[in-house]
Amino acid sequence: MTDTEKRALWITGGGSGMGRAVARAAAGNGWSVAVSGRRRDVLEAVVAEITADGGDAIAVPLDVRDRSAVNQAAQKVVEAFGGLHGLVLAAGQNAPRRRWDDQDIEEFEAIVGTNLTAVATAVDAALPHLRASQGTVVAISSYAGWSFQPGAGVAYSASKTAVSSLVRSLNQQEAAHGVRACHLCPGDVATDFLEQRPQVPDAAARAVMLSPEDIARTVSFVLESPAHVRIDELVVSPVSQA
Ligand SMILES: NC(=O)c1ccc[n+]([C@@H]2O[C@H](COP(=O)([O-])OP(=O)(O)OC[C@H]3O[C@@H](n4cnc5c(N)ncnc54)[C@H](OP(=O)(O)O)[C@@H]3O)[C@@H](O)[C@H]2O)c1
Repeated sequence: MTDTEKRALWITGGGSGMGRAVARAAAGNGWSVAVSGRRRDVLEAVVAEITADGGDAIAVPLDVRDRSAVNQAAQKVVEAFGGLHGLVLAAGQNAPRRRWDDQDIEEFEAIVGTNLTAVATAVDAALPHLRASQGTVVAISSYAGWSFQPGAGVAYSASKTAVSSLVRSLNQQEAAHGVRACHLCPGDVATDFLEQRPQVPDAAARAVMLSPEDIARTVSFVLESPAHVRIDELVVSPVSQA
């Protein structure tokens, strides 16, 4: 890469919450950014915010559970930006009915498909390009992927815990190609994701949580670390986290 060449970052779940904040921060740091998610309108709003600030961004709508859409999206990003240097996996799902006594198995499959299988699908699609650039993967997992959290949900906990294993095998097998990955485990973050809790937190509870920008700052730290530095896992929580 020459000094003038821009680095390209692909973010799943880039239309809202942490993904949106990561997109804005990365664009501010000079990355060309592609944002993916199901809602075209929110993706285009993020692109408009970034371009209004003088940044470079495109929207690539998709459902991360659709393997061929993910493969096509990776190609689109590489065609648009000439390469791929970073992948941030922020797409995620949970459900209010999350206990053994009330969960729905179709919802279970959707959660695992979004939080786990889609992480593997997107990394697979991106890997040849990340090898070429010696790129970085940041998997936005969860506090529940770091330590057992009784309220997080059966499917959610299982899927996020397994992301740790995906990241470790990726690091173990792809280090030889210069690819590095981080298992990022946020505690409570005030985003729309909280609407999926059985008891939705009120404004006072949200006020003491992390902001999406706190996580964006952490992701920037990982992405901007020198190429020989790998940050295998990070746990970031609000001081108030129980
Ligand atoms: N908020 C928290 O307290 C917290 C704590 C720890 C970890 N997390 C994790 O952080 C990540 C980001 O969540 P957030 O808090 O920033 O909430 P958010 O704003 O709800 O972001 C989740 C994103 O995932 C996208 N998404 C969901 N299903 C998708 C699918 N099938 N295909 C494509 N995109 C999909 C959503 O976009 P569309 O609906 O448009 O598809 C949305 O942009 C998630 O993985 C979540 O598990 C959240």
